[in-house]
Amino acid sequence: MSTDKVSVHGSWASRWVFILAATGSAVGLGSIWKFPYMVGVYGGGAFVLVFLACIALIGIPVMMAETLIGRRARQSPANALKVLALEAGHSSKWSWGAFAGMITALLILSFYSVVGGWSLEYIIDVGKGDFQAVTPDGVGAFFGELIADPWRLVAWHTLFMLLSAITIAKGVNAGLERSLRILMPLLFVLIVILLGYSLTTGHFMEGVHFMFDFTPEKLLDGLLPAMGHAFFSLSVGVGSIMIYGAYMTKEASISATVVGVALLDTFVSLLAGLALFPIVFAAGLNPSEGPGLMFVTLPYAFGNVAFGTVMGVVFFILVAVAAWSSAISLLEPMVAYLVERTKVRRGWVTFWLSFICWFVGLGTVFSFNIWKQAKFFVNEGGAFHLYQWGATAGLDFFGVIDFFTSRIMLPLGGLCFVIFAGWVMGREAVRDELSVRSPVLFALTFFLMRYVAPIGILIVFAAQLWK
Ligand code: PHE
Repeated sequence: MSTDKVSVHGSWASRWVFILAATGSAVGLGSIWKFPYMVGVYGGGAFVLVFLACIALIGIPVMMAETLIGRRARQSPANALKVLALEAGHSSKWSWGAFAGMITALLILSFYSVVGGWSLEYIIDVGKGDFQAVTPDGVGAFFGELIADPWRLVAWHTLFMLLSAITIAKGVNAGLERSLRILMPLLFVLIVILLGYSLTTGHFMEGVHFMFDFTPEKLLDGLLPAMGHAFFSLSVGVGSIMIYGAYMTKEASISATVVGVALLDTFVSLLAGLALFPIVFAAGLNPSEGPGLMFVTLPYAFGNVAFGTVMGVVFFILVAVAAWSSAISLLEPMVAYLVERTKVRRGWVTFWLSFICWFVGLGTVFSFNIWKQAKFFVNEGGAFHLYQWGATAGLDFFGVIDFFTSRIMLPLGGLCFVIFAGWVMGREAVRDELSVRSPVLFALTFFLMRYVAPIGILIVFAAQLWK
């Protein structure tokens, strides 16, 4: 059968490198920047609860599906689905689902790089001592000035994209292992130190209550955003984990590895939230501040604590590294696909794709300043406009890309992959790849993949439509 294919892009040296790479992909701005601000915007505990349920019942099964599809086919996502579908006697059109996922990954990268750029800027600012003894208003104003300056943002966005593209051009194996082996654990240590600081603010319990108390009425509000973010956080639904699975050695157990990576990623998100919210409350900042939340809260903490400057610089370097290791996993699926299809050199493919992402990213940069007034999908006073300049309702450019990717495309991509593994590939192929020893555990995993995850995704979509 198809179990002995070889990837033309190389493979990870060991199971350990897959774990590092997958964790590098999963743990990123999603856990440290996006999760806390979404918890803030969607009102705390209800969002967290739905998020955790979605990780367990939907995210992990999808992650397993992606990894096993990738490892079995050992090719880029679109080609993987094509080859496996044909092998199983199904239509090669399944590859379209993966193709849509790979495009979604590029759209995500377009804004991811902009925010990655913010963390680069903060390395310098914290290092210069700009936040020493800063007031809460001061940090807010600082962030406001940064995002109001399009050219500064473009410069950092360009640098971040370049750093990611250079790594991809060389091939993901080179450099990734060496840098992540030390830096990922260090990031973890720094978040724990921040958590220690939060414990001294006197507002720790307020943070805990905010994150874990909820009223049942609120559950529905954050349902789709929380599910979308579960996909985003685990890097599933776009083929990133699938392409990393394609480079995984045959001996590694997919089930144990995937559960480990997912737990680690979720743990980092929860720790980041627990570190952040007590500082938000202690400083009297607004938890529903939005995308700026991390960038006003943490500099405030670093500005008001002993050794804050050193710690702050190290922290933002680590955030940038975490973002970089996620960014390359967003670019890799399409790069691998085009290298397979066109035989054009990896370097060129990378250059053009990252240029396109960079260009689309300018839209996100400008949505914080010169295009702030440009609103899409405006629903005001009973009238609907696709686009309106200066409307108070509606989404800006960043909002549109974020909505389209996280709320629509990621869950749809996940649905495609999990149905593919559960229904197209069939039980035996899945059993062969997963290598779960206990039959009961396998039956449970397969049940989650075949029924619970797809039905769960559909229920969340339906609940959103009929809300
Ligand atoms: N999981 C990454 C993060 O949390 C983002 C990402 C999404 C990466 C989708 C790859 C695919 O930052």
